[in-house]
Amino acid sequence: MTAPAIEARGLRKTFRSGSRTVAALDDVSLTLAPGETLAVVGASGSGKTTLARALMRLFDLDGGSVSLRGRDLLALSGAALRAERRHLQMVFQDPAAALNPRATIGRVIEDPLRVHSIVPASRRRDAVSGLLARVGLPADLADRPVHALSGGQRQRVAIARAMATQPAVLVLDEPVSALDVSVRGQILNLLMDLQREDGIAYLFISHDMGVVRAVADRVAVMAAGRIVEAGHTATVFASPQAAETRALLDAVPHLPPRPADEVSR
Ligand SMILES: Nc1ncnc2c1ncn2[C@@H]1O[C@H](COP(=O)(O)OP(=O)(O)OP(=O)(O)O)[C@@H](O)[C@H]1O
Ligand SMILES: [Mg+2]
Repeated sequence: MTAPAIEARGLRKTFRSGSRTVAALDDVSLTLAPGETLAVVGASGSGKTTLARALMRLFDLDGGSVSLRGRDLLALSGAALRAERRHLQMVFQDPAAALNPRATIGRVIEDPLRVHSIVPASRRRDAVSGLLARVGLPADLADRPVHALSGGQRQRVAIARAMATQPAVLVLDEPVSALDVSVRGQILNLLMDLQREDGIAYLFISHDMGVVRAVADRVAVMAAGRIVEAGHTATVFASPQAAETRALLDAVPHLPPRPADEVSR
């Protein structure tokens, strides 16, 4: 049996500010198979971003374990950790904040190629052109600064940068929420195409249940730092069990039935 792309067990993280403590992650476990999309949904403050940051090892956990492609990520350090890190990348909600606006687009995409020695220096320029093409941008953008781009184009650059290391897992924290409604569908289609081509597993954090239904194989619902419901997307949407799941679905103004739903009636 192939190892999961990523597996987290019993993640715990408590934040303290003054006398207040928040259990942002309270015994969270999940498994993501290669090429699969798991959506993580939940109200604001339920712990979704903390979960993403925990998987990325952006802070120290209070407990739990994370394995990437069968390797215990928390046991690694130094060069071994950096080497394994190339298989796990993240795309943030706001591409304007995530990318240095004065850097050239070529530089932004080239950085991970250099850091992880993905291609020799002499071939980096070609590799950048290839990555730009994969995200639907012209090669001559490489010399332009990030600030010359629209929000949708910036998110394409952020995706190209994340794809540069050929990751097994991409953590996407609300990747289209900050974008104009008119470009959201294009970016989602791009992500689905890249996943089909490369077999990347997506941990897809979203507020938008319509988007989740369109892209996710499975859904995990978070509330107060816990996963309160998890299952296949069609099952969770058809018969939500947790009150928090029903509340999220009730907040969707209009959800037309899918053709498959109509046939089964
Ligand atoms: N660095 C931090 N210091 C203190 N508290 C934090 C920190 N990061 C997150 N929290 C708290 O942890 C809880 C979970 O926050 P988190 O950002 O993970 O929620 P979220 O589900 O991503 O919310 P949103 O949908 O608004 O993005 C919240 O109560 C938040 O205030
Ligand atoms: Mg968040």
